Amino acid sequence: MKILFASSEVWPLIKTGGLGDVAYSLPHALQQQGIDIRIVLPAYQDVLKKLKSFQILGWLTLKLAAKEYNVRILQTQHEKFSLPIWLVDCAALFDRRGNPYSNLEGHDWSDNAERFALFSLAVARLAMDDLNLAWKPDVVHSNDWQTGLISAFLDQEAAHPKRVFTLHNLAYGGYFSQQEFQRLQLPSQWWSPEGVEFYGNMSMIKAGIIYSDQVTTVSPRYAKEICTPEFGYGLAGVLLHRQYKLTGILNGIDPEVWNPNTDPLLPYHYSTKQLNTGKRKNKQALLESNGIKVTKETLAAPLLGMVSRLVEQKGVDMIIEAMPQLLENSNANFIFIGTGHPSIEAQLLELKQHHPQRVMVSIEYSEAKAHLLEAGCDLFMMPSRFEPCGLNQLYSLRYGTLPIVHRTGGLADTVVDVKSDNATGFVFDTATTKELIKTIQRALTLFSDKKRWNQLQHNAMQQDFSWNKSALKYIQLYQ
Ligand code: ADP
Ligand code: GLC
Repeated sequence: MKILFASSEVWPLIKTGGLGDVAYSLPHALQQQGIDIRIVLPAYQDVLKKLKSFQILGWLTLKLAAKEYNVRILQTQHEKFSLPIWLVDCAALFDRRGNPYSNLEGHDWSDNAERFALFSLAVARLAMDDLNLAWKPDVVHSNDWQTGLISAFLDQEAAHPKRVFTLHNLAYGGYFSQQEFQRLQLPSQWWSPEGVEFYGNMSMIKAGIIYSDQVTTVSPRYAKEICTPEFGYGLAGVLLHRQYKLTGILNGIDPEVWNPNTDPLLPYHYSTKQLNTGKRKNKQALLESNGIKVTKETLAAPLLGMVSRLVEQKGVDMIIEAMPQLLENSNANFIFIGTGHPSIEAQLLELKQHHPQRVMVSIEYSEAKAHLLEAGCDLFMMPSRFEPCGLNQLYSLRYGTLPIVHRTGGLADTVVDVKSDNATGFVFDTATTKELIKTIQRALTLFSDKKRWNQLQHNAMQQDFSWNKSALKYIQLYQ
């Protein structure tokens, strides 16, 4: 079976969040099951810089916004990849400094509609084998709003491959104005409530939902949640009506990239066997790298961490609100790594300023720091208001760092509260600061019961969240 997998980010070439991890690990898991798969993404400047060499597969002439784009399609290899990577190289739209969606000041690129419409059009043409490569996929698998128009473009072809669309986060809908829709000169028949139109605007994520043969989300629970007004972002009705083609398949993780026993980003390796010493040494390294004077007491005190995009979804504001009480009533220390909303960044930095020995904050994107945090902390905080799947709680489980999570989406599907058998973490039912504080206090009380704590860590580390099961579910769906 041949699959063309389209994503706007793919780790380690380019990543802003979990989509990048999944767009790397899922295709590799599928390949291990014998699927012939290729990944396609835009040739951003940051991606081109990382390549040692590439081959030109051909040129596509694409009409969009009353222009003719001559787009180069590149094929490249990378030491981390065992499958071909295709790049849509259009310098005018992708060869710039900044991240895939925004400029260096953090503002969305003003031509995002054109950028991702062009990318989607190019992928659709590749899927129709316009380059005569004698490789036509059976299924095109696209991901999130940036690739939503692929299915719509393919809809115009008689003999198109099947289309699977995965919703990683419905909160980002790829909304653009009707003027923009017209300016891009997209097919007028798409402009309908049964097409891309969404309350007077265009929605690229809706295009993916409407025009795909199958729609998936990244956890079973989120597949149900998005059919309700609370989580549906205005699309609950559209999704409810299409439940016949909606499936929730839990994300997996790459067990090689996230393995505390081999992780090259950790100073000390450990498994369930050298758990206590391994974690203690990493904790010391983590504290020291943050300029903390490490004593016996600091090492013994619970350390709670968070790695996150600093946005409303992640509930970091609740943690900030809880901090005065937590600092006052416990000996716990806290560490945060993240970037995002300027006001959240500023509040975290202020906390650090007031409690330099107890609150550590890095406002940056750093994989090395994220891995060390996972290994060195005792608890990981993830009180997300909603969470399509979440990967950090899965990394935390594997590193024996017990997650504290809100019972929503993929967090609910993957973490079992201490009140149940086979517990792996701490789960609370309503996303309020009060509930969060209560749950953190529950965790801190248990932290002093070393025997029970170790048992929980062992349970957590023994969970299997590799792609084995989920990759087979995708294959069934493709079939
Ligand atoms: P989301 O995709 O909503 O951001 P996930 O939990 O699925 O949430 O995935 C987030 C991914 O991004 C994880 O791999 C996490 O380690 C990584 N990440 C987020 N922020 C940072 C950061 N500041 N530095 C390093 N890695 C980060
Ligand atoms: C999104 C979601 C996150 C999910 C990730 C990968 O960014 O917010 O919950 O884990 O995609 O699917």
